[in-house]
Amino acid sequence: MGTRSRNARAFLSFPLLLYLLTIPSECATDTLIQSQPISVGQTLISAGKVFELGFFSPGNSGKRYIGLWYKNITVRKIVWVANRENPLPATDSASSLVIGSDGNLRLLDGMRNTFWSTNVSLPSNNTVAVLLDKGDFVLKDNVSGFIAWESFNYPCDTFLAGMMIGLNTKTGEKHFLSSWETDNDPSPGTFVLGLTPETPPQLFLWNSSKPYWRGGPWDGWTFIGIPNIGQGYVNGLILISDNQQGTAYLTFTTYNISYVIMNVLAPTGTLKTMNWDEEKNDWFVSWMAVVNPCDIYGVCGPFGVCSNKNGSPICECLKGFVQKSTEDWSKGNWTGGCVRRTELLCQKKISSLANETAQNDGFWKLSGLKLPDHFEYLFNKDYSGCQQWCVSNCSCVAYAYVTGIACMVWAGDLVDVQQFSIGGKDLFLRLANSEMGRDHKRRETNTIIFTTISGVILVGAFMFGLHRWRAKRVKREKRMKHYDVADRKDTLQDHVIHGEPSELPMIDFDKITVATDNFSQTNKLGEGGFGPVYKGKLEDGQEVAVKRLSRHSGQGTEEFKNEILLISKLQHRNLVRLLGCCIEGEEKLLVYEYMTNKSLDMFLFGWFYLGLFSLHVMFMCRLTIPFGIFGYMSPEYAMGGLFSEKSDVFSFGVLLLEIVSGMRNTSFHYYEKYVNLLGYAWQLCNENRASDIMDKVMADSCSESEVMRCICIGLLCVQDHVADRPTMSAVVLMLSSEIDLPHPKQPTFTVQSLSDADLRSQRSKCSLNGVSISVIEGR
Ligand SMILES: *[C@@H]1O[C@H](CO)[C@@H](O)[C@H](O)[C@H]1NC(C)=O
Ligand SMILES: *[C@@H]1O[C@H](CO)[C@@H](O)[C@H](O)[C@H]1NC(C)=O
Ligand SMILES: *[C@@H]1O[C@H](CO)[C@@H](O)[C@H](O)[C@H]1NC(C)=O
Ligand SMILES: *[C@@H]1O[C@H](CO)[C@@H](O)[C@H](O)[C@H]1NC(C)=O
Ligand SMILES: *[C@@H]1O[C@H](CO)[C@@H](O)[C@H](O)[C@H]1NC(C)=O
Ligand SMILES: *[C@@H]1O[C@H](CO)[C@@H](O)[C@H](O)[C@H]1NC(C)=O
Ligand SMILES: *[C@@H]1O[C@H](CO)[C@@H](O)[C@H](O)[C@H]1NC(C)=O
Ligand SMILES: *[C@@H]1O[C@H](CO)[C@@H](O)[C@H](O)[C@H]1NC(C)=O
Ligand SMILES: *[C@@H]1O[C@H](CO)[C@@H](O)[C@H](O)[C@H]1NC(C)=O
Ligand SMILES: *[C@@H]1O[C@H](CO)[C@@H](O)[C@H](O)[C@H]1NC(C)=O
Repeated sequence: MGTRSRNARAFLSFPLLLYLLTIPSECATDTLIQSQPISVGQTLISAGKVFELGFFSPGNSGKRYIGLWYKNITVRKIVWVANRENPLPATDSASSLVIGSDGNLRLLDGMRNTFWSTNVSLPSNNTVAVLLDKGDFVLKDNVSGFIAWESFNYPCDTFLAGMMIGLNTKTGEKHFLSSWETDNDPSPGTFVLGLTPETPPQLFLWNSSKPYWRGGPWDGWTFIGIPNIGQGYVNGLILISDNQQGTAYLTFTTYNISYVIMNVLAPTGTLKTMNWDEEKNDWFVSWMAVVNPCDIYGVCGPFGVCSNKNGSPICECLKGFVQKSTEDWSKGNWTGGCVRRTELLCQKKISSLANETAQNDGFWKLSGLKLPDHFEYLFNKDYSGCQQWCVSNCSCVAYAYVTGIACMVWAGDLVDVQQFSIGGKDLFLRLANSEMGRDHKRRETNTIIFTTISGVILVGAFMFGLHRWRAKRVKREKRMKHYDVADRKDTLQDHVIHGEPSELPMIDFDKITVATDNFSQTNKLGEGGFGPVYKGKLEDGQEVAVKRLSRHSGQGTEEFKNEILLISKLQHRNLVRLLGCCIEGEEKLLVYEYMTNKSLDMFLFGWFYLGLFSLHVMFMCRLTIPFGIFGYMSPEYAMGGLFSEKSDVFSFGVLLLEIVSGMRNTSFHYYEKYVNLLGYAWQLCNENRASDIMDKVMADSCSESEVMRCICIGLLCVQDHVADRPTMSAVVLMLSSEIDLPHPKQPTFTVQSLSDADLRSQRSKCSLNGVSISVIEGR
């Protein structure tokens, strides 16, 4: 589904392209009117000459359809068909598409029988049908312009940019993709792609209404069950949902309308992102799903996990589970799945609970997974709330806390679990204590005490823990007051390490050596201040960029670890993704997602952003510049460590304002400047006067209105309330298009214009947390 080009050039054959198209005589109009029907051989052409609509007959099917295709693309792909369920005989050359007397579109054969009709109620019969450059065919009232019907609401097998795939749970209206029956038969096939009505929605593919493939739930940036689709604005996906209206629609943007990108659901059930390569004059597939056996929904049965290793079998049981039927499994029939080896203590009868030697159940952490289907979503639980909920409810089999989604819990069978070699999420699986003990390799497991018998101990421990935690916090706060930079680093580390579990995998040095062909010169992409960057290909075929930090960078291993933890925590959503890292002896490597030329701009931007952040992190850790990173930190993170992707948006907003204003170097104390810059930008955006803030260097190359727009977008990003900030995809949309901007609210920091003296006195009072204290005082 992504627009990201991964250079996976695949040979595509379209038997359907060998259409016996009568060479159309162009009427060179984009509008169908009542008095001028389209007959066989005639076409409509959109105003920008992008799309064409007319009659076609696939292969030697002997059938005729009304369809829509890219006008100039020689390897033709039909993107929409009107009468897919009711074809005309190809022999009937007197067929026509007309606007009927009631104003509806009608497809008629030579005998004036209706083969297809838009069949909507219209305010008047004065309608016209227009073919738009985005590939949408609309029927509208010629007077009011009201759009009564559009082809985008009736998708076939092709998902074009701007189309909305999804559903309205209140009305039951669905806009789903459905495959063709065969390459030569556009009638609806067995495969359907759409969204599920749950929250958050999952991308789902059905084969005759049976689950066939699952993209997983939407986390605000991507579907988490698709590890290779690219993050955030790299994949171009946007999910628009409205809980009140009960709607959820998925759309995507290509960033540049001249890119020809579409997602196609093939008759075989594969889903692919197809890009038109102008130079090669051919399509290439940049992303494809349902290509390996593990992609098939629930292939390993309940509590089974599918991993894509070279060796077979591909199915295994989750830890603590055993094959339900070894006989079936030995025959390669995994559908029966696995069963729990040791009964959970919480499931046992009360009598056996009274056995004092009984050990409590625990939760085992599994990493890098496609999380199972049938989750329940607890949107109002934080990480520990999520854990607590699951611990205290025996029906809870597993839980996960996913950034961008929050708390997910599972009660029944765990189905459709996949082990990813890269990416994936953590799942905490409830196991009997004896199962936990079977493998001492992993230390991150947290055994949690929760029987009624040990209730007293639990409460005691809790009180003790609370007390210690409070004491620690007080101590830390006290220490903070002394501006001790070392302590501040510890706190940050605390945040990072004791916050949610890290999602960043370690990758073997040997694997990286193989992937980059022993860091060969031919694989070298370039060299930055930190060291050279190599292109590589991991075992599973994923292309990566490997940053090999210079041995002379002087960065210690601990500092490196802190940096990557921080980057992966702060940044992994909005950037070229950091896939993993490697520390071996002197070697320190970072492994990123690799992207090819088409997304190079995004790529470079990501690197720039990352580089800037890394620099700040390093300043924090080593150069002890007070408040260094806080200039970019959102208030909620600086205050309480609350972090969401919207905090990234905040950082981006500050960065954007800084870039536009060129004010970065005017002040060393971020806090001071922070007050000034945001307040100043607010004034300018309000008074619609950009020239004042504009960097002199930029004045020559940018228009004032563009700069104005950037400032206002920057301000939207730094809104105090998380809900007022746009998502990163919305920001990209705003930056790359002319859509109307919402009006920013006044940032808190500008209400009072603090004098320098005020600032100084406040700064002398404040500690690390003082940043937030001052912010509150500023209100
Ligand atoms: C398609 O080709 C025609 C004629 O060759 C040209 O005028 C038109 O601009 C082209 N359309 C696009 C979208 O490139
Ligand atoms: C449109 O509707 C009016 C009456 O509602 C009718 O008189 C007229 O003939 C219709 N126009 C066409 C082209 O059918
Ligand atoms: C048009 O819609 C009506 C009801 O909405 C339905 O009864 C009729 O069969 C439809 N006609 C066609 C040609 O689809
Ligand atoms: C539609 O409206 C435009 C102007 O509003 C007019 O020129 C045109 O003739 C109308 N077309 C039809 C089919 O009524
Ligand atoms: C889709 O379902 C049909 C019937 O349920 C089955 O025959 C076919 O093999 C399935 N296709 C795939 C690719 O699994
Ligand atoms: C879009 O892409 C075309 C062709 O690659 C390029 O010429 C054009 O400048 C791009 N437009 C924008 C707004 O980036
Ligand atoms: C696979 O096993 C299940 C039960 O575990 C059984 O119902 C099914 O028929 C088996 N399928 C095949 C192809 O043997
Ligand atoms: C108590 O647990 C021990 C060891 O797990 C077991 O041998 C014993 O049978 C249990 N007693 C009862 C009453 O369940
Ligand atoms: C425990 O979890 C199950 C399944 O999620 C749920 O139906 C039930 O209400 C929960 N019980 C309590 C007490 O929360
Ligand atoms: C900002 O830095 C640039 C380049 O280092 C310098 O030319 C410029 O004078 C500086 N601006 C201010 C206000 O110090």
